[in-house]
Order: sequence, then C-alpha cells, then structure tokens
Amino acid sequence: MRRRSGLVKSERLLTSLGPVGKPETQICPAPKDTKMTETTFTPRVFSGIQPSGGLHLGNYLGAIKRFVTMQDEVAESVYCMVDLHAITVWQDPKALQHSTRELAAGFIASGISPEKSILINQSQVPEHAQLGWIFNCVARMGWMQRMTQFKDKAGKNSQAASLGLFAYPALMAADILVYHATHVPVGEDQKQHLELTRDIAAKFNHDYGVDFFPMTEPVIEGAATRVMSLRDGTKKMSKSDPSDASRINMTDDADSIAKKIRKAKSDADALPSEAKGLEDRPDARNLINIYAALADMTVDQVLADVGGKQFGEFKPMLSDLAVAKLSPISTEMARLMSDPAEIDRVLAKGALQAREITAPILQKTYDIVGMVRPAI
Ligand code: AMP
Ligand code: TRP
Repeated sequence: MRRRSGLVKSERLLTSLGPVGKPETQICPAPKDTKMTETTFTPRVFSGIQPSGGLHLGNYLGAIKRFVTMQDEVAESVYCMVDLHAITVWQDPKALQHSTRELAAGFIASGISPEKSILINQSQVPEHAQLGWIFNCVARMGWMQRMTQFKDKAGKNSQAASLGLFAYPALMAADILVYHATHVPVGEDQKQHLELTRDIAAKFNHDYGVDFFPMTEPVIEGAATRVMSLRDGTKKMSKSDPSDASRINMTDDADSIAKKIRKAKSDADALPSEAKGLEDRPDARNLINIYAALADMTVDQVLADVGGKQFGEFKPMLSDLAVAKLSPISTEMARLMSDPAEIDRVLAKGALQAREITAPILQKTYDIVGMVRPAI
C-alpha cells in the first residue's frame, strides 16, 4: 500500500519537473538513441551531503528541508554523509569523524527520521565505491573536464588537485545509481552533476545493450535552491567562504544569527511589493528568498506583507523567524552529539538496510559487465 501511494506521489513529482537539459557542447556525446523509459523503477530518493565543515543555511534550505518532505512522498529514501567525497580535498581525520557525526545529527534534528529513511555514511556501504570504479570506465575524460565544480575547487593549480576530485562526479553517479534512485533533491549547484549521472546511465545502458539504470530526475525546487552569501548577494553561501559572517551555521546561537542578519548586506531602498522589483537587487532578493523559504511562503506572498518596509524593519522580522526555525534544530543537534555512540548505531543500522538494496544491484552490474562470479 505504501509503495503504491509512493508511486502516485512520485509521478506527480516527475510531471512537476521540466526536462533536464543536455549540456550544450559535448566532446564525446552520450548516445542519444538509448531507450530510456521502458522499465518502470520503484520511486526511490537518494541524496548526499559532504561532511566537511559544518552545515549552513544553504544546505538546510537548498537540500535538507526538501529531504524531510520527500521522505513522506516516496516509499524509500536514502540520505548519505558522503565521506569518500569529502576526502577528495584534505580532511583532518579527527575533524572528519566529528563532521560526519554532526551531519548525521543535523539530518535527524531537521526531521529526517531513521525509521522512515535510511541514513548512511558512504564508506560503510562499499558498493558505492565499487560501482564508482565501473563508472570511471564509462565516463569520458571530455565529460569530466567540463565539470564546473572541479574547476572551482581545483582553482588555478589543477595539476595539484587529487585524482579523486576529478573523478568525483562518477562516484556521485554511483551513489545514486547503486540504489536505482529515481529522484535526487539537491541545490542548483548540483545540476550539472545530475546531468552527468544521466549521461553515465545512458552510456552504460547503450554500451551493454540493457535498460538497467534509470534516468534519475533532479529535484531542484523551492524558494532557496541557491542561498547567497550574506556579505555578497552574487556569491553562493558556502562553507568554504573565509568570512563566517557570510553564512548562518546550523550550530549558531540566537545572538549570532541576529547579529549576522543585522549586518547582512542589503540596500537603501524600501522593499518592493512584487518579485519583479527585486530583479537588480541581489542582496535584497537573497534576504527575501531566505524569509520565504523559512516561512514556507512564496516570494510574492512575503512581499505582499512586507512591501514598502525598509530593511531596518524587515531584518528583525527575518532574524526572529530564523531563530524560531533554527534554534530547535541546533539544540537538538547538540543533544544528539552528546551521545555519539547512538549516532554510530543509527549509521550502522542504515548501512545494513542500504546493502540489501545495493549488493544485488552491484552483483547484477558485474554480471552485465562480464565479471566472473563464484557460483552460489
Ligand atoms: P555541500 O555542502 O556542497 O555538500 O552541499 C550539500 C547540499 O546542499 C547540495 O544539495 C547542495 O546543492 C546544497 N547547497 C549547498 N550550498 C547551497 C546554497 N548556498 N544554496 C542552496 N543549496 C546549497
Ligand atoms: N556533490 C554533492 C555536493 O557537493 C554531494 C553528493 C555526493 C551528492 N553524492 C551525491 C548529492 C549524490 C546528491 C546525490 O553537494
């Protein structure tokens, strides 16, 4: 019964999403003639966040908030701390352990229930890395060289970047496809990686003449798919920004949240009454988007209430809302972090549940590829 209602909801989700555009230039294009929709896949949600540094408001509004609603929309959802991805840039081992548990605490405190969803740490489910290798052999150098996240993270000295950072999107495709996941909620910045995931699935299906991996749909929706820096409304809010004032961390207390919002960049004009009036005002737009996403309202609904107000009046409203929504989460995170053994138990249970899904999919992949397996 649960599965059935999941299917109906998922079909609704599917139709609410536009088609995923193909990259404009492809050095080695993915085959276009693959039959992509013959097989019906059980709706299954997968998403991941890197346990590198702490969670911030961008992660919460762009990703986690959506994870929470989606766990009730489909029968199965899997949420992952992608520690293998995190080490594509240097991580201090102790800090990595701390961040992994803190991220798990952040998921649970935000409303992801280990009873409804499968919560895992990537390295505890070895099939991710195993399928990742197969996909390293499917993805083309030309595809990987177009990835903007690699260019951003590697910076000017790309020769010094790790090979893992370059291969990162093939492992990400494996994270998703080792579950035959059909929907992946993420922020805007991950769109290109999800296009690549579809290209890898299509090329695998085409090369081996199968219809085995689904064409996963990205779910990029809501008022805050791209939360911007509080210091510069044209830059993404990010954990790697050297200025702590540029972001609201999920562990910030009420005073720091209020202070950061008070100091947030805005402008001297009054707020408009319609979204159109925010077009050339990135800082103003960002603060309104954040308000709308926190309040579960549309931008137009927010502006209908606050249009005409100055930032001096709007910022305290935003700050009160942010504190009301985020403090219970940070309090619960701190409580969960006081018992790390319990978090470890949740992740261990999640890994067992996950492997029931991933092991057969990996075995079938090995069969398709022609790996000789022991007779059972
Ligand atoms: P990361 O912290 O890079 O592992 O990102 C984890 C998730 O949060 C991904 O789905 C990202 O797309 C999302 N995310 C990260 N930064 C932002 C942001 N500034 N606005 C919206 N979503 C974001
Ligand atoms: N690349 C994502 C990020 O940087 C994290 C990630 C890894 C992910 N594997 C994933 C997201 C699979 C969604 C699905 O945010």
